[in-house]
Amino acid sequence: MSFPKRYTITAALPYTNGPVHIGHLAGVYVPADIYARYQRLQHKDVVFVCGSDEHGVPITLKAKKEGITPQEVVDKYHAIIKQSFEDFGISFDNYSRTSAKVHHETASTFFKTLYEKGKFIEEVTEQLYDEEAQQFLADRFVIGTCPKCGNEESYGDQCEKCGTSHNATDLIHPKSAITGSKPILKETKHWFLPLDQYEGWLKEWILEGHQRDWKSNVYGQCKSWIDDGLRPRAVTRDLDWGIPVPVEGAEGKVLYVWFDAPIGYISATKEWGEKEGKDWEPYWKDEETKLLHFIGKDNIVFHCIIFPSMLKADGSYILPDNVPANEFLNLEGNKISTSKNWAVWLHEYLNDFPNQQDVLRYVLTANAPETKDNDFTWSDFQARNNNELVAIFGNFINRVAVLTQKYYEGAIPKPTAFSEIDHQTLKELQIYPAVIGSSIEKYRFREAQSELMNVARLGNKYLADEEPWKTIKNDAERTQTVMYVALQIAAALAVLSEPFLPFTSEKLKGILQFEKLDKILSWEHVSDTSGLLPEAHTIGKSELLFSKIEDEQITQQLEKLEASKKANEAMNSSVTPQKETISFEDFSKLDLRVGTIIEAEKMPKTKKLLVLKVDTGIDIRTIVSGIAESFTAEEVVGKKVTVLVNLAPRALRGVESQGMILMSENSEGKLVFVNPGEEGVLPGATIS
Ligand code: 2FM
Ligand code: ZN
Repeated sequence: MSFPKRYTITAALPYTNGPVHIGHLAGVYVPADIYARYQRLQHKDVVFVCGSDEHGVPITLKAKKEGITPQEVVDKYHAIIKQSFEDFGISFDNYSRTSAKVHHETASTFFKTLYEKGKFIEEVTEQLYDEEAQQFLADRFVIGTCPKCGNEESYGDQCEKCGTSHNATDLIHPKSAITGSKPILKETKHWFLPLDQYEGWLKEWILEGHQRDWKSNVYGQCKSWIDDGLRPRAVTRDLDWGIPVPVEGAEGKVLYVWFDAPIGYISATKEWGEKEGKDWEPYWKDEETKLLHFIGKDNIVFHCIIFPSMLKADGSYILPDNVPANEFLNLEGNKISTSKNWAVWLHEYLNDFPNQQDVLRYVLTANAPETKDNDFTWSDFQARNNNELVAIFGNFINRVAVLTQKYYEGAIPKPTAFSEIDHQTLKELQIYPAVIGSSIEKYRFREAQSELMNVARLGNKYLADEEPWKTIKNDAERTQTVMYVALQIAAALAVLSEPFLPFTSEKLKGILQFEKLDKILSWEHVSDTSGLLPEAHTIGKSELLFSKIEDEQITQQLEKLEASKKANEAMNSSVTPQKETISFEDFSKLDLRVGTIIEAEKMPKTKKLLVLKVDTGIDIRTIVSGIAESFTAEEVVGKKVTVLVNLAPRALRGVESQGMILMSENSEGKLVFVNPGEEGVLPGATIS
């Protein structure tokens, strides 16, 4: 769409079963925010909406795990997420939630309209049922083997390994996520959207219509879905958490979360309209509106195939013009995981790095997973801040502001004669709005941001070449012109950085005292040959835009991640199940003593065995122990150990072993002695 009348920009509704992390930000919210801010700077009519996705199985599972109600779960995370987005400068026009009344009404009406138009198939089918929990198992209530890639931990609705979206009954060896039991099949009635009937239309709309303008990762996924053949999809579930199915005979059933969530974009727009006194309908129903969905790659099928089919079935809505989905961001080489706490959580970042929102925004855009998965590392975060934001952007602004104060007490000097290099520099500057804008329009945010940094580089090079600190000594007129040009570059940076670094842009506008200008400087003014800051306009004192990030801050973050890793390893290390109960009499038959190893040697021609002489307090005896892969003979001599002394002797490789030394394994799988380490415990002491 070349000249849309308005923009409806949506960002995936985050599930409220946990806070938002950097993967969400890099994939969805930062690019969406850059795009929305940019279009507003083009004076476009924009509504940018999002909200909390509060239904679905992950919420109920979280509630069960924490022993609270689903409502308590969503209230807790909705508050954290909403606040952290706001503090991070994500400029939603409305951040709603799917538990809102307006959403329940909108989603119910949507379903009813399709129902009345006969757009659903009503069918009794066999679904997985957990007899122990007495409930049907859909979506994330079931875990099993993915029929496509063989991942044994696939969820009922989607395999996180290969991204395939499937029905719970497709899983091989399904297991209930609630009780761990094997589910049975039980009949139940549901409503299905017959996606097969939309295949022809989807082929025409996506495969023929969007081959060129949709990202290849998005187009490719859609093509593979359509080529595989579409099947009817259930849009209702047997659950007690969600929006009740608004038709008769559907008691105990709710709308499938992926049916109601995208309708959340519509209800968020309605809610915004009510607050702002605007009509929401043109934003969803006028063909001249450009509808865009910013999402992560795991959401492609829902936004490109299922939701558009729902909108098409209704018939009164527009379709997305584009769905610029991103790939995933990893963290320090590993997949980000909410359940494993392998993440950088936004609310924690805001706490650990106060007033440094733009640093994270910058790094996430510089590493945005636009065409392939990418990695976030703390060392790269530090390097990009120190070597780029501080050394290039911050340094340029600081030099300009300090010199303007020093030479002219803050007043923009009058330029005299422009040299060839001045003309060239100003001309180059005037091209940047179009260059940056064109990359943003193509959803190439990394490229756009690197062009922004080129503006700062242009400024630094100009100052380095023209050396006003030298010309000030003998050529006042030349210095005035150079500082005038440098100040125009600084002003351009204040405008052009707004979509990417909104806090920095605000601060810089403050330093340059934009509020005292007689026009509000915007994107188009940077291309204007008449200049941005007029002569005699006074700027304020320099303030540092960015500050160096020290090694200790990075070490702290890495330690935090290391702690998560350790906690996970401890949780995952498989604990051997408890053995059968024994009586006290059985236990008291064991004669356990404290002993000391006094001699040790490797058993010849074996890998595992050490022959030990142990002082048991009763006697000095030979014990053959299978610990040679974990210890050398030298290192065990003198160790205090626990010995089972009344074990029947047995011969090992011709040596009689007269007891057993108790061993355990540490978290790395290495053998360790069960050590009666207390001071003063002597050989022969009994253990009971
Ligand atoms: O994947 C997710 O986090 C989903 N909650 C996204 C929903 S997007 C939309 F359709 F609402
Ligand atoms: Zn799979």
